[in-house]
Amino acid sequence: MRDLLAVPPPPTEDKRWRIVEAAMRRGAYSPNCLIETLHAVQETFGCLDEASLRFCAGRLRVPLSKVYGVATFYHHFQLKPQGRHTCVVCLGTACYIRNSPRLLKAVTQEFGIEEGQTTEDKNLSLLTARCVGACSLAPVALLDGQTLPGQTPESLIERLKALPAEETKREAEK
Ligand code: FES
Repeated sequence: MRDLLAVPPPPTEDKRWRIVEAAMRRGAYSPNCLIETLHAVQETFGCLDEASLRFCAGRLRVPLSKVYGVATFYHHFQLKPQGRHTCVVCLGTACYIRNSPRLLKAVTQEFGIEEGQTTEDKNLSLLTARCVGACSLAPVALLDGQTLPGQTPESLIERLKALPAEETKREAEK
């Protein structure tokens, strides 16, 4: 009885928590299914916010510090909501000496976001990387995983402004 009372409820009444619950059930609520559970949260809600991490910690009886440790160790996991599109500006040496900081500055000014932030309309997230392995094409940016070679501030901004802003089918179904 005490154990039942100790089970934490989902952070919200959103029915999608059932998907996460199912992932934990498949793992018999073992601490060993933490990574699978975090995957389920991210796949379902797009990121791992504090409330979801607390929920997973309580439900799987794993110390919150360990849950944070796992969530921050793997680059796959996002602690903040990401935009529909992600632009990564490379600041590695080859790109840097070919003026990639100007690309970054142009994006921050045009969209009013800093590195690591997402626009208010959730359409674009801006990230940086030290080298994305395409040095001969410097300066480069990645847009939704696609390499954009030899960028200028103008070409990159033009590309980003052309991004579709409508909701994806998946989002519309929520
Ligand atoms: S430094 Fe930018 S791709 Fe290598």
